[in-house]
Amino acid sequence: MFARRIAVVGTGYVGLTTGACLASLGHRVVCADIDTAKIERLRRGEVDILEPGLVELVVEGMAAGRLEFVVGAREAISRPDELPVEVMFLCVPTPMGAGGAADLSAVEAVAAEVRSLLPSGCVVVNKSTVPVGTAAATLGLLNRRDVAVVSNPEFLREGSAVHDFLHPDRIVVGCDAQDAAERVAALYSKLGAPTVLTDAASAEMVKYAANCFLAMKLSYVNALAELCDVLGADVGAVTEGMGYDRRIGQAFLKPGPGWGGSCLPKDTNALVQVAAAAGRELPIVSASIATNERQRVLMVDKVRDAVGGSLAGLRIGLLGLTFKAGTDDLRDSPALAVAALLRVEGAELTGFDPGCPVAVPGVTDDVTVVSDALLAAKDAAALVVLTEWPQFRSLDWAGIAGEMACRVVVDTRNLLDADVLRRARISWVGVGRR
Ligand code: UDX
Repeated sequence: MFARRIAVVGTGYVGLTTGACLASLGHRVVCADIDTAKIERLRRGEVDILEPGLVELVVEGMAAGRLEFVVGAREAISRPDELPVEVMFLCVPTPMGAGGAADLSAVEAVAAEVRSLLPSGCVVVNKSTVPVGTAAATLGLLNRRDVAVVSNPEFLREGSAVHDFLHPDRIVVGCDAQDAAERVAALYSKLGAPTVLTDAASAEMVKYAANCFLAMKLSYVNALAELCDVLGADVGAVTEGMGYDRRIGQAFLKPGPGWGGSCLPKDTNALVQVAAAAGRELPIVSASIATNERQRVLMVDKVRDAVGGSLAGLRIGLLGLTFKAGTDDLRDSPALAVAALLRVEGAELTGFDPGCPVAVPGVTDDVTVVSDALLAAKDAAALVVLTEWPQFRSLDWAGIAGEMACRVVVDTRNLLDADVLRRARISWVGVGRR
């Protein structure tokens, strides 16, 4: 493998992980962001996202002289004293815009900025999740015959992004110019992962296809859990029995308060929009979105039932606010969506989350954020587990029981050991569990 000179534009979860991991593979990487303060922090080796292994790679990469941070895309590619950049990754946000479609203004802004500066022969790689056709559109925006645009979607989970980058299930690279796709695939050759080389539109589609499939799988499991509740079956046994079928697999079969985060909600909505724009419907994905919204309502029904029929004026303690364990990310968190619904019914909410130790104005406003589980439990008519932090399993449940006004825990993640709670004389309500 040849070490390549690479620019990465955008230092969010995806960009920073991509830059630091590519540097760890031996490439020379310059990462750019428009946030000057963030670049200064990164230069000091400070990483402001919770991502295991990332800060170590950033520090190692800088120490080895293979990783640098600069302000702005222009600075990353126009460095007269350096050899030209061969590959430029676009890792900028593509948030959900009006009506659910992806907002591509950040991709467009970078394309406009670098258009006249890209070295001849440079390959521009889109790593952001973008609608099918964006690679072709980006090539149009760049209006350069001597550069190629490649789609190379990322499949990184927050909380294990470095691991996922360095141990990928597959690498997908798409470009209508095969040699450019091969050059990008070669960047990852050390990883030895199966590589799918295809056209740009198909590579763009893979990302949506994968994330929507995962969302569908979870909505299916959540719907099964509801049926298990009604029919007296146990969803844990049901999913275990399903999961041994290799065509299904055990992963992504845990019921919960609904799926969330920065990707699945955005990508499911975007694919439905993309289909609508093409004059097609995608009822299977639309139903998964609707099932997900309903799941949050069902969780509130469970809490209301557990406290005797009305939430008005009751103190409810929440364990977990982030969208999943192992992250500090509150974006599109199902926990906060459930909190908002509880609040509408008049509950007073106190919440504890190991990844979110203090209130985040404008985001956690429905909840009084406290610094430990005992405080969340104080005088609570019920405790609700919303995020699957493993440390919740070994909390001081006897101590918590002593703080609660009413000893009931609604465990929307089926995380806790019901026997441990029973010994603390707390009644446990799960999802789809007998
Ligand atoms: C996801 C994809 O997994 C990743 O490949 C893509 O690149 C980005 O989007 P992420 O958003 O980090 O990653 O979260 P993920 O671990 O996939 O979980 C998504 C949501 O599903 C979370 O709310 C999580 O709590 C929920 N989930 C996941 C379940 O409810 N049950 C499960 O069994 C798994």
